[in-house]
Amino acid sequence: MELLLSPEDKFKIESGIREKYAKVAASPEGLFKYPTGRAGLEALGYDPEILKTLPKSALDSFCGVGNPFSLGPINGGETVLDIGSGGGLDSLVAARLVGPGGKVVGLDLSPEMVARAYENLKQTDLANVAFQEFSGEALPFPDGSFDVVVSNGVFNLIPNKGRMLQEACRVLKPGGRLLIADQVLAGVLTKNVSERIDSWFR
Ligand SMILES: C[S@@+](CC[C@H](N)C(=O)[O-])C[C@H]1O[C@@H](n2cnc3c(N)ncnc32)[C@H](O)[C@@H]1O
Repeated sequence: MELLLSPEDKFKIESGIREKYAKVAASPEGLFKYPTGRAGLEALGYDPEILKTLPKSALDSFCGVGNPFSLGPINGGETVLDIGSGGGLDSLVAARLVGPGGKVVGLDLSPEMVARAYENLKQTDLANVAFQEFSGEALPFPDGSFDVVVSNGVFNLIPNKGRMLQEACRVLKPGGRLLIADQVLAGVLTKNVSERIDSWFR
């Protein structure tokens, strides 16, 4: 379903998201209504053996809402795109799963989040991951580039959700898999909340 947003409202939403995630890049602690960092990863059942191989700062920067890796396997040698990669935790997990013969790209709208992801990556021995600053609504890849698209907590933030879904399907190879963890709205928002543009990214 598409919301009819004016270009001004779309701009306000994206500016608000950039402002919020510039702060989250320093630390997500206390900025979300759900557990983040190691507590979030443990509650969501991430594989402790993989987490053990990743730096503390990568675990600390996790602010996903679910565990996309619980939705299906990622195999050795595959190519994975992580949309809204944040501090990069899911990209690093995917990089362990695909191994040295595979490749992972993380994309995020926030330059501070991309910088944080690179700081986290530098503390690993992984050579099969790259991060780029881009919106999930316009992916800078040719059709059929990836075996798997992962996203965690990003869909709910995107003004044009249909466009992101279309883009994710476009860059998947035939038979590719979409592993999406996100929040859904159950019920109707009060007028007060639905009319406030900042409800989008609070
Ligand atoms: C809730 S955080 C989740 C981050 C990461 N997936 C994780 O699990 O830790 C949402 C992320 O989506 C990014 N984001 C928001 N809108 C985006 C867009 N249009 N395109 C790409 N990334 C976006 C934010 O900058 C933020 O890093």
